[in-house]
Amino acid sequence: MNFPAGVPRHIAIVMDGNGRWAKRRFLPRLAGHKQGVTALRHCTQACAERGVAVLTVFAFSSENWNRPNDEVSGLMDLLALALSREVPQLCKDGVRVHFVGNRQALSDKVRTGLEQAEAATAHNTRLVLNVCFNYGGRWDIAQAAAALAARGEAITEASLSAAMALAHVPDPDLLIRTGGEMRLSNFLLWQAAYSELVFSDRLWPEFDAAALDEAIAAYHARERRFGKTSEQIAPAQPDAAHA
Ligand code: FPP
Repeated sequence: MNFPAGVPRHIAIVMDGNGRWAKRRFLPRLAGHKQGVTALRHCTQACAERGVAVLTVFAFSSENWNRPNDEVSGLMDLLALALSREVPQLCKDGVRVHFVGNRQALSDKVRTGLEQAEAATAHNTRLVLNVCFNYGGRWDIAQAAAALAARGEAITEASLSAAMALAHVPDPDLLIRTGGEMRLSNFLLWQAAYSELVFSDRLWPEFDAAALDEAIAAYHARERRFGKTSEQIAPAQPDAAHA
């Protein structure tokens, strides 16, 4: 995978704050989610323009089924609508979509929409957009372990990683959560082991390209040690004898 030096190769986002954005405007929560789709479109384009190779977003968690029925059905309808509307633009922008999550509990209409969007964007190579829908980090670890057990394979870090829902992409370098909360909420529990975490007070519908650049700048200011010491990861000094 080629990517510009310094740009996070994989960015993951918990898109939080749609409800509050709507409430502040005396609008129904679903209006916030609709605005969230627009923010997602802009963020996807901004990531592609900056040379990010993978964007993974949390669109509907395993726990979101506990929301009021009208909000759950509204989110399902929104996904189906967004799928049919956004595919041409995704293709123009070179974006390949993958849906990550438990598809079994979804309606036939939503499942078919997901499959069609994946097939229609399968040839795009500029950016991979993973949409986590009916997803939970614990679900992913458990389903990977169950798949290995069913095949009688040994459970190791490598085999579990390979059986997980995001095995097709490297782990996220940068994980952003909007909306001011500072928790993972069951997102990418396995894959975020060494991700840099950046929390933004902006509500998701207000998260624009400038906010993305701020998060990338915060990522650049971090020292990624992966368990090593600062000295071990410092760039080698030019050898005076050969300078
Ligand atoms: C969290 O905000 C957001 C969600 C549960 C849904 C995220 C969905 C989108 C951004 C739209 C994209 C969706 C599809 C279907 C592709 P919240 O409702 O928890 O906000 P709050 O914390 O302010 O209440």
